[in-house]
Amino acid sequence: MKDTPIPYEIVKQRIKESNLPSIGKASIREVKRLINEIEQASGKKFIRMEMGIPGLPAVTIGLEAQKKALDNGVAALYPDIDGIPELKKEMSRFCKNFLDIDVKPASCIPTVGSMQAGFATFLTFQHLQKGKDTTLFIDPGFPVQKQQHRILGAKFESFDVYDFRGDKLKDKLESYLKKGNIHSIIYSNPNNPSWICFTEKELRIIGELAKKYDAIVIEDLAYFGMDFRKDISSPGQPPYQATVAKYTDKYVLFISSSKAFSYAGERLGVMVLSDTLFQGQYPDLKPYFGTDNLGHAIVYGSVYALSSGTSHSAQYAMAAILKACNDGTYNFVQGMIEYRDKAHVMKKMFTDNGFKIVYDKDEDQALSDGFYFTISYPGYSGEELLEELLYYGISAISLAITGSQRLEGLRACVSLVPKSQFPELEERLKAFAKNHPL
Ligand SMILES: Cc1ncc(COP(=O)(O)O)c(C=O)c1O
Repeated sequence: MKDTPIPYEIVKQRIKESNLPSIGKASIREVKRLINEIEQASGKKFIRMEMGIPGLPAVTIGLEAQKKALDNGVAALYPDIDGIPELKKEMSRFCKNFLDIDVKPASCIPTVGSMQAGFATFLTFQHLQKGKDTTLFIDPGFPVQKQQHRILGAKFESFDVYDFRGDKLKDKLESYLKKGNIHSIIYSNPNNPSWICFTEKELRIIGELAKKYDAIVIEDLAYFGMDFRKDISSPGQPPYQATVAKYTDKYVLFISSSKAFSYAGERLGVMVLSDTLFQGQYPDLKPYFGTDNLGHAIVYGSVYALSSGTSHSAQYAMAAILKACNDGTYNFVQGMIEYRDKAHVMKKMFTDNGFKIVYDKDEDQALSDGFYFTISYPGYSGEELLEELLYYGISAISLAITGSQRLEGLRACVSLVPKSQFPELEERLKAFAKNHPL
């Protein structure tokens, strides 16, 4: 029995009582519950790095606009399924100002978070073209999107991009696409969980191959603007958020209010279809949606059937925030810079104590500091490390549940760790290193 920051017996007992077959394979919510129980039993606070939830207050501009909309009575009214005109217009402007792409307001569809954007997209794409019945995940990825596929009975394939960066991505991607069954390719950028960001070269490879094999690219921009190596915050000025939309005309972007504007609680995202896709004709859709037009099928088929649009007042909030970003009166990148600064310090604490950063490079460039980073400890599997760290009051999730082949790795999220906990984190990591000599 070791001398650990959280009493050994308490952690051991709670793990046993949790009845989880393996802590390393537990879902994020299961890990969260277990830690809550250990915290309660031990009276000691954990360094909580398991959940990817915003650690900053919601953007005030949004709150004010939302309250005003409620005072004006929108709560009583169904919103239009395709979204309020103000939000659609500001999202179209936002795409021009921060991605340097042209999309019509009609092609910007508010959803109940990017989560629903995913569900609606996967549901629709399943019926898009006979013979193309599979989504390709460029992993690691957000586990719930695979769960959505399972619930829908939708097929997917996946590969871990770790060994296929840069030019190597081409052959790997083509090996899947040439089979002819892939209707869409999905990834997040910056990536949850690894925090890699595709380079322009890689985005070009993805876009050009998608075009060649008539696949749609679904680009999940949940962490918009958080590749802090370049400041994209000036509207209409380069540099811009990197996007595959530069290299293909058949794309869907998920732009979430959750992290960029700390608006997770109101469940609002926007699904942006390229104009080509929004206007696209796919005859195989007709039996399911009564139309062969993809834009119509998504809005009046999938989004209608799922929830009849999304929260009326929250749409006013996001419209107001986007307008302020577009007008240059609110700098949303600056609003999130704390994540970068915290990651910088925390990563160093881990590496100073023997840990390695698992996903550490975008081709030849060091990764950005941001919302997540990945860690491993020599000689430990991710599963073992996750459990071992619990005795030191540190929580994370295993990369194994994200489609990563780096089974030694864990994902750490910086958002919920206040700077005031840094001395404690350092102390606990030192204790860990002392008890696990390399
Ligand atoms: C990659 C990715 N996509 C989507 C989401 C969900 O976004 P939303 O809160 O808009 O549903 C998350 C949230 O963690 C995420 O990490």
